[in-house]
Amino acid sequence: MSDLVSKFAGRKPRSAIILGSSLGAFADSVQNAIRIPYRELQGFPVPKISGHAGELVVGTVGGKEIVVLAGRAHAYESGNAAVMRPAIEALKSAGIENLILTNAAGSLDPAMRPGSIMLIEDHINQSGMNPLIGQHGDENFVPMTNAYDPGLRTKIIAAAEAEKLALHKGVYVWYSGPSFETPAEIKMFRMIGGTAVGMSTAPETILARRYGLRVAGLSVITNLAAGIEGASPSHAETKSEGAKASARMGQLLTRFFTDL
Ligand code: HPA
Repeated sequence: MSDLVSKFAGRKPRSAIILGSSLGAFADSVQNAIRIPYRELQGFPVPKISGHAGELVVGTVGGKEIVVLAGRAHAYESGNAAVMRPAIEALKSAGIENLILTNAAGSLDPAMRPGSIMLIEDHINQSGMNPLIGQHGDENFVPMTNAYDPGLRTKIIAAAEAEKLALHKGVYVWYSGPSFETPAEIKMFRMIGGTAVGMSTAPETILARRYGLRVAGLSVITNLAAGIEGASPSHAETKSEGAKASARMGQLLTRFFTDL
């Protein structure tokens, strides 16, 4: 039995979700929850920055057993793009098949306003890092076509329709951070086909695909990206706007898990 399974106390979740900046409230909606601090889990990252918790919650949402990872470590904290590898590996060995990744992101499209929710259809890696660098073996040549699972995307779109929630769709650009982008970089990201920009998610998608998990991604748009309509994003804004949208994100996720 894997380390993690032994802590699940007989539950058999097949889906897990990683909560992004200030979306932690969703973890409180889990019923019959067992809460395990990351520090009790081998290799799980203990987040160091404000707005990010660090606990694994196993319980039910919408009648489905799920795992919630409240808090993630980011590549920019250490320079290690594979910082979430042990957690993702542990989820895989514990029988998880679907991994939902959420984040806060800046909008590259003036029509996608702060407070919007965006379904990630694809990503562009602008970080200069890859979590699989240094790994050996053919399984690291991971195909990234349809990395964001078309079947899960269809289910998220259906959940948004059922809840009458507006859902944008687009391409997430992974920027290393922790500094925000310059307006010139944002102009480039728009030109190369980006819709939103953020500092997480893409490395976890790459790792999850490496381990054969199905992935879905959702962004809460907390701000217009640097330079758009004069925007100059800040971490404080990311946290406060993320918290405002978290109820709608929770509604969408609850419907998604209910119908999964
Ligand atoms: N840029 C990068 N990451 C972000 C942003 C942004 O504008 N907003 C929230 N996370």
